[in-house]
Amino acid sequence: MFPGNGVQRNATGFRSVFSCLVGVSEMSAQSAARCIKPRDSKETALSMGSSWNVVFHSGRQVCINFMKMAEQTLEDGLIFYVNGKKIMEKNPDPETMLLPYLRKKLRLTGTKYGCGGGGCGACTVMVSRYDPQNKNISHFSVNACLLPICQLHGGAVTTVEGIGSTKTKLHPAQERIAKAHGSQCGFCTPGMVMSMYTLLRNNPKPTLEEVTEGLAGNLCRCTGYRPIVDGYRTFCEREKCCQINGTACCMANENGSVGPVVNGQLELFNKDGLLPLDPTQDLIFPPELMRLAESQERISQKFIGERMTWISPGSLDELLQLKADHPQAPIVMGNTNIGLDIKFKGIFHPVLLSPTRVHELFKVTQKPEGVCVGAGCSMSVVKSVLEKSIGSFPPENTHMFRALLQQINLLGGQQIRNVATLGGNIASAYPNSDLTPVLAAGRCTLVALSKEGRRRVPIDKDFFLGFAKTAVKPNEIILSVFIPASRKDEVVHAFRHAPRKENALATVNAGMRVWFNENSSVVKDISIYYGGVGTTIVSAEGVCKQIIGRPWEDATLSDGYGALMDDVTLMASAPGGKVDFRRSLTLSLLFKFNLLVLQYLQEKNVFLKEIPKGLQSTIQPLPKHIQPGYQEFQNVLETQLAQDPVGRPMVHRSALSQATGEAVYCDDLPHIDGELFLAIVTSSRAHAKIIRIDFSEALKLPGVVDVVIADDIPGKKCRNIVGFNEELLAKSEVTCVGQMVCAVVADSEAHAKRGAALVKITYEDLQDCIFTLEEAIEKQSFFLPKWKIGRGDVEKALEDAEQVYEGEIRIGGQEHFYLETQSFLVVPVGEEQEMKVYLSTQHPTFTQVAIAETLGIPSNRVSCHVKRVGGAFGGKVTKTSILASITAVAAWKTGRPVRCVLERGEDMLITGGRNPVWGKYKVGFMKNGRITAADFQYYVNAGNTADESVLVAEKILLHLDNAYNIPNLRGQSAACRTNLPSNTAFRGFGVPQCMLVIENMITDVAHKLGRRPEEIREINMYKELSLTHYKMKFDPENLVRCWEECKEKADIHRRRQAIDIFNKENQYKKKGIAIVPIKYGIGFSMSFLNQAAALVHIYNDGSVLVSHGGIEMGQGLHTKVQQVASRELNIPTSLIHISETSTECVPNTCPSAASFGTDANGMAVQDACQILYKRLEPIRKKNPNGTWQNWIMTAFLEKISLSTTGYYRGQDLYMDWEKQEGKPYAYFTYGVCCSEVELDCLTGEYRTLRTDMVVDIGRSINPSIDIGQIEGSFIQGLGLFTMEELKFSPSGMLYTRGPGQYKIPSFCDVPLKFNVYLLAGSSNPLAIYSSKGIGEPCLFLGSSVFFAIKEAVAAARKDAGLTGPFTLNSPATPERTCLACATRFTNMVLQSKAGSTSGSAQPWALDI
Ligand SMILES: Cc1cc2nc3c(=O)[nH]c(=O)nc-3n(C[C@H](O)[C@H](O)[C@H](O)COP(=O)(O)OP(=O)(O)OC[C@H]3O[C@@H](n4cnc5c(N)ncnc54)[C@H](O)[C@@H]3O)c2cc1C
Ligand code: FES
Ligand code: FES
Repeated sequence: MFPGNGVQRNATGFRSVFSCLVGVSEMSAQSAARCIKPRDSKETALSMGSSWNVVFHSGRQVCINFMKMAEQTLEDGLIFYVNGKKIMEKNPDPETMLLPYLRKKLRLTGTKYGCGGGGCGACTVMVSRYDPQNKNISHFSVNACLLPICQLHGGAVTTVEGIGSTKTKLHPAQERIAKAHGSQCGFCTPGMVMSMYTLLRNNPKPTLEEVTEGLAGNLCRCTGYRPIVDGYRTFCEREKCCQINGTACCMANENGSVGPVVNGQLELFNKDGLLPLDPTQDLIFPPELMRLAESQERISQKFIGERMTWISPGSLDELLQLKADHPQAPIVMGNTNIGLDIKFKGIFHPVLLSPTRVHELFKVTQKPEGVCVGAGCSMSVVKSVLEKSIGSFPPENTHMFRALLQQINLLGGQQIRNVATLGGNIASAYPNSDLTPVLAAGRCTLVALSKEGRRRVPIDKDFFLGFAKTAVKPNEIILSVFIPASRKDEVVHAFRHAPRKENALATVNAGMRVWFNENSSVVKDISIYYGGVGTTIVSAEGVCKQIIGRPWEDATLSDGYGALMDDVTLMASAPGGKVDFRRSLTLSLLFKFNLLVLQYLQEKNVFLKEIPKGLQSTIQPLPKHIQPGYQEFQNVLETQLAQDPVGRPMVHRSALSQATGEAVYCDDLPHIDGELFLAIVTSSRAHAKIIRIDFSEALKLPGVVDVVIADDIPGKKCRNIVGFNEELLAKSEVTCVGQMVCAVVADSEAHAKRGAALVKITYEDLQDCIFTLEEAIEKQSFFLPKWKIGRGDVEKALEDAEQVYEGEIRIGGQEHFYLETQSFLVVPVGEEQEMKVYLSTQHPTFTQVAIAETLGIPSNRVSCHVKRVGGAFGGKVTKTSILASITAVAAWKTGRPVRCVLERGEDMLITGGRNPVWGKYKVGFMKNGRITAADFQYYVNAGNTADESVLVAEKILLHLDNAYNIPNLRGQSAACRTNLPSNTAFRGFGVPQCMLVIENMITDVAHKLGRRPEEIREINMYKELSLTHYKMKFDPENLVRCWEECKEKADIHRRRQAIDIFNKENQYKKKGIAIVPIKYGIGFSMSFLNQAAALVHIYNDGSVLVSHGGIEMGQGLHTKVQQVASRELNIPTSLIHISETSTECVPNTCPSAASFGTDANGMAVQDACQILYKRLEPIRKKNPNGTWQNWIMTAFLEKISLSTTGYYRGQDLYMDWEKQEGKPYAYFTYGVCCSEVELDCLTGEYRTLRTDMVVDIGRSINPSIDIGQIEGSFIQGLGLFTMEELKFSPSGMLYTRGPGQYKIPSFCDVPLKFNVYLLAGSSNPLAIYSSKGIGEPCLFLGSSVFFAIKEAVAAARKDAGLTGPFTLNSPATPERTCLACATRFTNMVLQSKAGSTSGSAQPWALDI
């Protein structure tokens, strides 16, 4: 029997939040596994006889049908606890998820909305449940956005507010992420904290692997993850650490010591004195819920909401009856599929069945032939069951268990695995389910049950009938799944390849099984299934036929590959695209299976030939242990006062509030009486006339108050953005899918969204859509002016050059993916046309002006308030002003407060991103590597409006040289008008794109000359006092220093040799290394933007309130400003407060952008503080020993003003395009980065093994914040250049509208060794305290990974006999990389293209 007492202690959580696993205890894997047996007869005792039926209707109880009942339940309906407080809901709406319930109803706003689809982890909370069967309490991390509250009956929810606070006591999970600088904008932080908290609750001493696994379901767009890993690494038990340092602790430095000082170098955060884990701090599981669980296990419940009815049966019989009565009603288990369908596809189900308390669905039994797992078991439970089975079965029988476990370990994130069920996965019949190919290959069967009886159904090709269709009948349920143990001489393997290593649905996956005759290599039976290559899983029957009965050897397998080409056919238009890649993956995975089987046969002494050495690494996984990063920065001078914080690694001033969920973001503001919600209606056509907008049905919907159209705008109907008008709402014509047409306002978000869905727009399509840059060029579709710049005589130099090469590269766009979506709350004050606007923007003044112009009122009636922004990266300037204006029109029209918070999908669709760029070049060079001429052309995909794209095209020409002194240089750029959503500013503003072009050109030159790219870089780099191509003088000394130091720190020469050897020895694994520099201009070339103002008040008690025009969006601006004020006023930072940025306090602000925030606002605050400090001088002189508080009170009594403004008038920067000269930047920030990757050429998957960066940021005001910006932007660049891919349909609709489809870097993408060095001995007289702007420059350094991949690809191509330059577009996704490697398998596919993949069908996605 199974011991059942005590709290389960499994890091991953043993059970579904909702499940009652029978038969798995907290014993060690081996002993518990021995104990897995069928449950005793209690199971059969369950029947309808003792069930309860309690029916609730919205607002009132309409029917009670019970045989036995606990009174409390009858009266109280749904009962659960949140942070130790009891919640009773008599009439919960089945459509309400826990996230909005927590945020809106309970006002627990620490839990954040990031995507609503389980993909980002911002909404992570812990759910605890008591299982009356085995008397266990279990704790799970879950995504609150996918958890229906109806499913919470008897559960205890813990949110970030429930574990600690700044007012009481912090939890170590909160303290450590904050103190390790792992919280920048802070929007992801509560989710990270709760994932870590849940892990610690189950496992107080996790290994580093468990930490990263526990956090894999959480995304962060700011930090680059390294500080989060390093902060949470401190929980790892030393002896259980990753052991990356051999036997020493992974936290130790090279001398083996652990502490704040490593080799005499200060560390960014002090690990001493951190709060210890204290279990007594944790909330206990409410005893009442235990009693409830014991007494009401079998009660069935029914909740009737506005549209849907929720029935939770108490027994299996009742479930079967319900299924018979409502065959179309879905079974809601983890809600990870059905929830998404309801939410995103608008699928409506009048009845939902939730059998989470039907014990039979969670039963686990083990027999000698295999394991039978209840269909309701979550992935975490199945994982645990498999782990135990692996421990208890003889090893030769565990192949199937291992294969399935491998897939489950990589399925979704931890939160998904904790709730998603086995039965749900099978019933969902995803074409790329990770489980079904293995289940099918592994001879699994399931039990389907209905009132009519039970049947055992094999999970095979006949079971899956098509997309989301199986052989399970509508009146049946899946009861259990039988996973057979592998037989003697049977081998099973599973494979998956996904666009990101973790938390991403597979592109292609496979399950493969072969059974041999005893002691022979002759195949008795074989089964191969692929996922991701059709509407359902595909059985490679042709391959199996080829192989069966034959010995396992090269000739057999060769025939198998041939047959596979026929088994897996994909039309050119196949949904999901990547047709050639997917087909080549099927071959590559079969090849990997071949090697694994050969290895098996060799171990069994059946196959006596050695697997060639060069192939052995093919089946080794890529390395994944993240080692502690090293950060080197300058210490402050010994003479600096201890209190003076400038130059010290001070923690972000809001980090603790962010980690406790106390930090307030726009949508955390409480609901205001009478408040309405606004939902946007967007165009579904790329280019069409609007014939009619019919919103009559929407207006009939309960709760809908009004609809806003263009004609409702009282003032200007267009925004003028840098000289181009942009309609706020389209009136007569739409020019892209996603263009805003009208907006519905209603009393709730749900009503507004339902109303928006009912608006009917009649279009007349216009036929001249332009999507691609080629089309735009052909049709001369540009936003003018086009830009041109040049120096020297390019034509002549090209003629004189010893070699000339023409190349090109395309750089895809990038979604900002700030974790906080665009959010607004516009409140009409009610008199004199005043509007108070709370929003998430980088540029409050721009929005203030936009709203004033839109409403036709003066700016002095509109005040914009920004407390903080949950990430922006350039995406919260222009688009924000338009959305805010529309929201303001709604508030104006209705006279009521209006809130608008975009859903992630809407945000991605409407607001655009980084401009895709096509760069072409012609380069002339000498045999010695000197580049004498370069001629560039850049085409920028602007989208349907100009926005700032013309300025992006301008900035591209100003940075086209990057760090290279090319004597004859010419560039032309143009912003192309297309029928795609309008793009906008994004960190770097075109610079990363143009720098990639020149670095690619240099790589081509190197490949042409057969030399190392770094040699060509070095030969052509600016080295002495120079002029840029626009005649700005600068000294590149620090650029050269960064270059030399980076080469040395990265030990590039030695590592190159090691890489050469590795590449020679390995056929399908290749390594590459690349080093790239940046020279990045800081400041705005539009001179008027280089100004800032501040307002500083000193109150009588000595406390100081600083207001300035900059926005805190995670970059630590307020922290640095606080440091400035502290130094200038000579007081501790604790006396200084920054509340918000408001146009009421500081008018006419400039955007927080261009890496100029601290330069400008720091100076303004310095000015104000110096004025005030000077005013206090007579008092200080009179009373030199007085305290600050004494002086302030005296000043007040002496009628000295304690408030002043400060102002910074920046440099007069300019660019004269007529003369082609200017000084558009205040100065340059320099940096150099070296990265090394290991690439799997068969799948295109890579891992960044190591990154070293040396960056010149002058004297850092706050090294921890600056290093945070460096690392965060590097990872964003790594995403841009290697992963993030926007896909548009042939009709111009964005497919990639959420984290499910659009992959930003995650924990698994952090370089395994990530070292950052701030250049010592640098200073900068042109910025405050000799610092330099750093927000944007290092984004481009992420390209070092791109070029390292390119080098690895070049090595693979060399093996294929291909040398010289080749095109690898950005992002270097696994698809592009794998195809560029030209392996035997990609070649097979490309050669066969004339066959199945060809045809006239339009590809699934556009190549924009
Ligand atoms: C963010 C995210 C990441 C994901 N990543 C992966 C991944 O990497 N690999 C992968 O394979 N999958 C992945 N998934 C899919 C996930 O595995 C499935 O959605 C999940 O297994 C479905 O189980 P569920 O319990 O949530 O089903 P639900 O959503 O509750 O139900 C889904 C469907 O199954 C039916 N159903 C459920 N149980 C039964 C039953 N016992 N009998 C009959 N019908 C039943 C329901 O009627 C419904 O139609 C991911 C999902 C999300 C949201
Ligand atoms: S908001 Fe729930 S996972 Fe993104
Ligand atoms: S700090 Fe993680 S998203 Fe901003």
